[in-house]
Amino acid sequence: MTHSSPTQPGKARLIDGKAFAAQLREDISHRVADFKNTHGIAPGLAVILVGSDPASQVYVRNKIRQTQETGMQSFDYQLPAKTPESEVLSLIDQLNQSPDVHGILVQLPLPGHMDEHRITEAILPEKDVDGFHPVNTGRLSIGLPCLTSCTPLGCLMLLKAELGDLSGKEAVIIGRSNMVGKPMAALLLNENCTVTVTHSHTQNLAEHCRRADILVAAVGRPEMVKGHWIKPGATVIDVGINRIETASGESRLVGDVAFNDAKTVAAAMTPVPGGVGPMTIACLLHNTLEAAHRQQSVSTI
Ligand code: GUN
Repeated sequence: MTHSSPTQPGKARLIDGKAFAAQLREDISHRVADFKNTHGIAPGLAVILVGSDPASQVYVRNKIRQTQETGMQSFDYQLPAKTPESEVLSLIDQLNQSPDVHGILVQLPLPGHMDEHRITEAILPEKDVDGFHPVNTGRLSIGLPCLTSCTPLGCLMLLKAELGDLSGKEAVIIGRSNMVGKPMAALLLNENCTVTVTHSHTQNLAEHCRRADILVAAVGRPEMVKGHWIKPGATVIDVGINRIETASGESRLVGDVAFNDAKTVAAAMTPVPGGVGPMTIACLLHNTLEAAHRQQSVSTI
């Protein structure tokens, strides 16, 4: 399945994450229908939102809508910002025990009085569709089957569709977050790439980037990666989604990569918006279906 436009000289192919995600969701819908026929229940995803962060509310609304559109069951919990941590922990406990719920997601960030790690670790690893539980991150790092963080999983799917076998490629990741940079590094190592993870203390960042056959930018800094940082012919995955104000006072979304410059050097790259962004929820649905299958076959994770 390829979802990229043809190459023109000096112009990168655009990797169409929006189309790829739509195809993935369609495949998932068919597999959900098969699951229902076989097991007599729908895969179920519970989403917990604590507080009223506007960006989180948009993400959660989209997650719930797309869950329902694929025929899965959605359980939606919207709690006030002041909810005690113990109440969230007992809700998670109840969802851990529910046979109707195969996946549990607690939207981050959480209000300041809550411990993100304690909440994440309360979710059963086999229901941890975000792939944030230490059992899942540990299994990922030693190459065992696991539930994998959705955004890096989406990036990997796009890379494999674009490049096929990734063995031996030089991969450079900008950013070492637990949600994207670190799991992306583990996924690419498992694909036999030579992986460099760069971060805010890295010296000569541009030099590292110029060695990359695969460059993944996940720093959250608008257009930080310049065209001359990119190796000619590289594949560039831009995870950043930054809202900036233009000279005319309007706002628009840009990635972490200076798109217009980069596209004259790279062989292929993801646009912002319409690149990595749509893959995150599609991979959440993929993980929920995967979790439901494993729970029906009584798997150990
Ligand atoms: N906040 C921003 N992205 C994510 C995500 O992928 N999962 C969760 N749980 N929270 C988020």
